[in-house]
Amino acid sequence: MKEFTFELSTKIYFGTNIWKEALQKEKARLIGNIMIITTGRSLVKHGYQQLIQQAIVEIIGNNKIYIYDKISQNPKLEEVKQAIEIGKERSIDCVIGFGGGSAIDAAKAVAVGIPVEEPIETYLLEGKEPRKETLPIIAIPTTAGTGTELSKGAIISSTYHRIKTGIRGKNILPKIAIVDDMFTWTVPEKITMETGFDVLAHAIESYVAVKANPFSEMISEKAIQIVGHNLSLLKQDLDNHEARSQMCYASMIVGMNLANVGTCLPHRMQYSIGAYTDTSHGAGLLALYPAWIKYEYEVNQEKINQILNGLGYSKVKSAEEAENMFKVFLNKLDILYLLSDLGIQEQMLDELSGQVTGNLSNDKLSEESDIIKKIFKKAMEN
Ligand SMILES: [Fe+2]
Repeated sequence: MKEFTFELSTKIYFGTNIWKEALQKEKARLIGNIMIITTGRSLVKHGYQQLIQQAIVEIIGNNKIYIYDKISQNPKLEEVKQAIEIGKERSIDCVIGFGGGSAIDAAKAVAVGIPVEEPIETYLLEGKEPRKETLPIIAIPTTAGTGTELSKGAIISSTYHRIKTGIRGKNILPKIAIVDDMFTWTVPEKITMETGFDVLAHAIESYVAVKANPFSEMISEKAIQIVGHNLSLLKQDLDNHEARSQMCYASMIVGMNLANVGTCLPHRMQYSIGAYTDTSHGAGLLALYPAWIKYEYEVNQEKINQILNGLGYSKVKSAEEAENMFKVFLNKLDILYLLSDLGIQEQMLDELSGQVTGNLSNDKLSEESDIIKKIFKKAMEN
């Protein structure tokens, strides 16, 4: 069997309506000045932000909480810098990321930046690994999608540099992840489907990745089955709470693969799309996937067939069949997007391809010459 290492260091609380009890149990961590990084918007509308704030005040018995709620759908460098500045002024000791992946990723970056002198760009743009002084992070996701509550990456966009890239390192792994599906009950259909697809993309990419190992493959296989079944159930009924819980579980377990195995070309390429179009992470992945599946089939036939099987489809014998089968799956969920739907035009492809960075070699397909441009081009034609 293949040799591997697998690191798990985040304490997980998982369940329905368990968040308050979990915070209570972690009272010892809620010391000093606390900053909650969130996206505001729907979390305020549904009263969740107020609930969390009140609960922390009750637990710690004082009012040293600052809420930074200006994080965008694609968290921006400028927002992170502003929160870091406030965090330094207020001598923040602990950062809570509350929201979708954007809030938690921003919280991670803020936790890196508050205790150090260097600008956050050193970590984001120059690739420096976050120091052990990074503030403790508590992640409370409100969507079933990114798995960032268990990953050691924080993806941030810089409008000025036209780049979407990551801060990476084990010191930004949250100390605590509170995964409570109750927060996902009110997520609207489009976001449920797009973030749910992100879970599937993590499961698929960590499955075919060069760094995959028997343990991560087991996690991927389980997550693929869960998403295939439960995303379809949610398409029929968004109030299916058991399906919501299953999706949170899949998102969380596959988050462990993100920290240990990583992803493949679609994630590297989506960051480039996101930086150019400010469209959602899930939408960018969706636009790329059928084209990528077609090319990936050529280097990973057996695994692509296992993925299709996990989604409930029969074995295919060609790359075109694999692509079409995947389109059938997306079509059933009403999330079959084109790259042009996101505002990408043919003449942008060279520049977009040039912006794709990160660990490309984790995808065996990256050895094929000009593959990024080929996938982008195919994704325009779908
Ligand atoms: Fe993702």
